[in-house]
Amino acid sequence: MTKLAVIIGSTRQGRQSDRLANWVAKEAAKKADVEVLDLRDYSMPFFDEAISPRYNPERQPVPEVKKWLDKVAEFDGYFVVTPEYNRSTSAVLKNALDTLGYEANKKPFALVAHGSSGGAQAVAGLRITLPGIGAFTIPEALFFSDHLGESISDDFELSDEKKANPYGPQTQLETQIDSLIWYADALKAASN
Ligand SMILES: Cc1cc2nc3c(=O)[nH]c(=O)nc-3n(C[C@H](O)[C@H](O)[C@H](O)COP(=O)(O)O)c2cc1C
Repeated sequence: MTKLAVIIGSTRQGRQSDRLANWVAKEAAKKADVEVLDLRDYSMPFFDEAISPRYNPERQPVPEVKKWLDKVAEFDGYFVVTPEYNRSTSAVLKNALDTLGYEANKKPFALVAHGSSGGAQAVAGLRITLPGIGAFTIPEALFFSDHLGESISDDFELSDEKKANPYGPQTQLETQIDSLIWYADALKAASN
């Protein structure tokens, strides 16, 4: 079965990203093996290595970073739930991506953004960043602007009202899940 991670792109107190990430994970788990990765569980330093991870075969990452690298390497593809802060993704997520060498190389990312204005600039930035670690983003990205987290229940179900919209978040997410699995399986087969 396809192995997917859902990365929570915020460690902020009172964050909304975790609720969205768990909704994404619950839906994706109907079709794939899914694990939520919470950056609160990976308290890495700001990237300070002398050599770029992709050009450092002798790399000896500190234990907190190694734990993150080993975890990321386990998956065939990734969702990233990103907030938008000041027209960009979060610093904690960018730092976590900057630590990666080849763990996500030739693997697909699906971007789920949210923010006051939908997070388009966070997505645009990530579409530029991710090729730097050899990864790429699938065509479908999701943009949520209406405090969607407040429409997700404590057991991570979208409200019936939101679900009733045939062009709404539920349908958009289901399309994105299918696409990510397609790319993850295709790239995994090509890599074997
Ligand atoms: C410092 C800060 C800057 C923000 N800047 C933006 C922004 O540029 N564009 C946007 O759409 N939302 C912006 N927002 C709104 C956040 O995206 C929104 O609060 C979202 O819930 C943040 O995700 P989180 O709750 O998981 O941390 C900003 C919020 C904060 C705290």
